[in-house]
Amino acid sequence: MATRFSTLGRFPTTRLRRNRQSDWSRRLVAETKLSADDLIWPVFVQEGTNARTQVASMPGVDRLSVDLFVEAAKEARDLGIPAIAIFPETDPAAKTPDAREAYNPGNLVCRAIQAVKKSVDGIGVVCDVALDPFNSDGHDGIVRDGIILNDESVEALIKQAIVQTEAGADIQAPSDMMDGRIGAIRKALDAKGYENAQIMSYAAKYASGFYNPFRDAIGSSGALKGDKKTYQMDYANSDEALREVGFDIEEGADMVMVKPGLPYLDIVRRVKDAFGVPTYAYQVSGEYAMLRGACERGWLDWNKVLIETLTSFKRAGCDGILTYGAVDAAKLLKAK
Ligand code: PBG
Repeated sequence: MATRFSTLGRFPTTRLRRNRQSDWSRRLVAETKLSADDLIWPVFVQEGTNARTQVASMPGVDRLSVDLFVEAAKEARDLGIPAIAIFPETDPAAKTPDAREAYNPGNLVCRAIQAVKKSVDGIGVVCDVALDPFNSDGHDGIVRDGIILNDESVEALIKQAIVQTEAGADIQAPSDMMDGRIGAIRKALDAKGYENAQIMSYAAKYASGFYNPFRDAIGSSGALKGDKKTYQMDYANSDEALREVGFDIEEGADMVMVKPGLPYLDIVRRVKDAFGVPTYAYQVSGEYAMLRGACERGWLDWNKVLIETLTSFKRAGCDGILTYGAVDAAKLLKAK
């Protein structure tokens, strides 16, 4: 049986280097184009005014007070970045076992949403739905006797999604991995008249060693007891990712995400091929730290590896990428 490639020519009649010999020709045959439109910029917010704190394990990333966050959002908008994602560093005194600060309409996230919506047009605001920034146990759900409770956690997540939507967030992004939360959140949003509120589900989210710098950034690493393996996926699994994504689509997810990113591009490809829905991946904090750490030592070139990795996400089937390098990438793409 002829393979697909047997019809595509033979050396020396065919020389694949011909098309690569000049920049214009390489551009002409390029299969994947990365643009600022593909980027979502995750930003950490903190209390205070005109305050920024460098995240030690993420060189080049600062936590920003709300006023500076608004300025950052304007810069992102002006660079053509379609959306930003907000992650709060919550005052440890506000963290409780029931994580009730998550659905306090005056919490830091809601204040950040309101501020950005008031002064910046033309950029989408994405909010995580998960309890870990607010939970004294550092978990994404409510913990009792060492068990992460599913259905009780979903009740809290619903309330969180509602206050964030009321504050003006456009996209709710549940990252908690509780079963049934997408359907429950969709139903609750619809019942409140928010049928146009979008949901980007962290559908295939793995229990990963690559989240540590993020947990430093939001101040949850000290709180976290144990690991997240009873709700986040086992990285040995791939078929299971399709079940997770399928459920979330059926429950009403508008977009789905795979997380982490680069070590999981096989999952991105399978998800995109199987469902053909808007598909995203998160180049997570540990991936950023890994690249930046090597660049700081002069071992890698940031501009090159940033664009190369982001293009790889697109090649694998992503419609967009959440990346801490979004602003740098948008500037590089503009200068090109
Ligand atoms: C919390 C959440 C995490 C990330 C996004 N939302 C961490 C976790 O699950 O522990 C990780 C992002 C990153 O590492 O950049 N539910």
